[in-house]
Amino acid sequence: MQSTLPSSLHIAVIMDGNGRWATRRGLPRHAGHRAGVAALRRVVEAAPALGIATLTVYAFSADNWRRPAAEVAGLMGLVRHYLGTEVARLVRSGVRLTVIGRRDRLPDGMADAIARAEAATAAADGRSLHLRIALDYSARDAIVRAASAVSTAPAASAAPAAHDTGALTRDAFARLLGGGEACRDVDLLIRTSGERRLSDFLLWECAYAELYFTDRLWPDFGADDLKTALHDFQRRDRRFGALPQKGSQKGVRATGVPQGVK
Ligand code: FPP
Repeated sequence: MQSTLPSSLHIAVIMDGNGRWATRRGLPRHAGHRAGVAALRRVVEAAPALGIATLTVYAFSADNWRRPAAEVAGLMGLVRHYLGTEVARLVRSGVRLTVIGRRDRLPDGMADAIARAEAATAAADGRSLHLRIALDYSARDAIVRAASAVSTAPAASAAPAAHDTGALTRDAFARLLGGGEACRDVDLLIRTSGERRLSDFLLWECAYAELYFTDRLWPDFGADDLKTALHDFQRRDRRFGALPQKGSQKGVRATGVPQGVK
């Protein structure tokens, strides 16, 4: 595939439908989550060639603790296994891994496993893709934590630009939200399985995200589905509140970047 998409796209994915995928096959839900990991692998492999620089996936929300303990344990086991076994592949493919969300409520040893995986992929200086896995994540909690970091210890936590002027800027707040690393806005949010909700995912970062919903269940999602979503994205007229630029093509406008997946 030829791609003239900007190589800086941030795509976020709510990987929904694992349970239904399994139930339709008469399988336990865990089989759906396992198939979901395989789908994630396919998407991570396809992403760099499609101009995606950052991919943030929703693996476990702060509200998912409400699920039965066995399902939670199964999901945590899958993530732990992924961290242990996938790092070498990620390093080989030039993928840097970051986990966002709370770490203090995870099962014993998981925070260390996450730190090891992050350190290994950071040391390899992977530049083809930044994969961010959201785990025990809530956008509203993240915003509250960043806001409380500003109000309780501004000098230690906010970015220098904020102190120089005494005012908190959007960029400085975004850095706080990203744990010190500014995370760019989401360009396209994909949710599978026909559900059309944000479910407390990246609410700040999605301020101007294009939304794409597909009936495909996550375990069935693959590179072709990702391309279809990007084709759809290219047809969007992103104006960010401004008016269309004169003479501009659809999909080129507000970003000023040529886009075109063929
Ligand atoms: C939503 O589908 C999916 C989840 C809550 C878990 C998503 C997790 C994975 C795809 C595995 C991720 C693993 C790694 C290694 C990052 P659902 O279970 O709510 O499906 P349903 O709506 O059909 O019941």
